[in-house]
Amino acid sequence: MSNVAAEQNTVAVHIENNVAWVKLNRPEKRNCMSPSLNRQMMRVLDELEFNADVGVLVLTGEGTAFSAGMDLKEYFRETEAQGLGATRQAQREAYGWWRRLRWYQKPTIAMVNGWCFGGAYGPLFACDLAFAAEDATFGLSEINWGILPGGGASKVVADLLPMRKAMYHAMLGENIDGVTAAEWGLVNEAIPSAQLKTRVAEVCQVLLDKNPVALKATKDAIRRVKEMTYDNAEDYLVRAQEAANSYDNDGRKEGIKQFIDDKTYKPGLGAYDKSRQGN
Ligand code: COA
Repeated sequence: MSNVAAEQNTVAVHIENNVAWVKLNRPEKRNCMSPSLNRQMMRVLDELEFNADVGVLVLTGEGTAFSAGMDLKEYFRETEAQGLGATRQAQREAYGWWRRLRWYQKPTIAMVNGWCFGGAYGPLFACDLAFAAEDATFGLSEINWGILPGGGASKVVADLLPMRKAMYHAMLGENIDGVTAAEWGLVNEAIPSAQLKTRVAEVCQVLLDKNPVALKATKDAIRRVKEMTYDNAEDYLVRAQEAANSYDNDGRKEGIKQFIDDKTYKPGLGAYDKSRQGN
């Protein structure tokens, strides 16, 4: 296999019913993230972001792992052997696609099917929502091989977990299962692995029924306001909605009309019917 083909095979994509199922695809290496995989994932995200057939992106792993974190051989040892320039490049390639995912145009879901370690907390956090198999395994294993949880992993647990839990998780290097990850708020829900995909597909369908411009504005708002004062957030949200109106003013008006005039739905109980817009 040529190098290009080998690199392309590190990520598998399947589009079905407007959902892009994107798989880290190095099952024999527990989907640990090598520079090749990181480069390929950025290409895949580029291709899917404005693909009209895709309304939601699900990130998951082939085989028994979601991802065993950074590739200790190809990402750490081999790039470090080439010097600081190569190390920084490898970091840019990894952090680059996680950042890209954090601000992705489409809603994103991490479907954690198995092992999820260290660096994998980057893409886990980058996804808007996360669903795990009850028997998935989460761990900050960095302390077990002698480094701090880098690549954003420390920031992820500090943001998502209460301080004592984040500290314990990072310092002890003990793993937790999907059920505990859900209790702690690291993921939205834990589901028996046989039903995981069905549940995620169900959530995708709910998202597909919503106004896509409003979804993008909403997901960005939730991430942005976290670091703002109340007053700054209030101001940002007014401006973000006005900017969203410049892309889609009709959707919002239709949403108001179907509730106030047509009385065909209640926003508190479900979404308006997008298909009637413009009729
Ligand atoms: N980096 C490099 N190689 C890795 C890897 C990683 N993060 N995780 C797994 N692999 C490789 C193994 O070296 C092994 O390669 P080989 O077949 O050439 O010997 C292969 O993937 C399968 O791994 P193995 O350990 O045999 O699988 P397992 O199912 O018994 O155990 C894990 C799975 C995830 C518990 C174990 O692989 C592990 O601890 N990985 C490291 C996790 C980690 O610390 N990640 C944090 C990095 S920031």
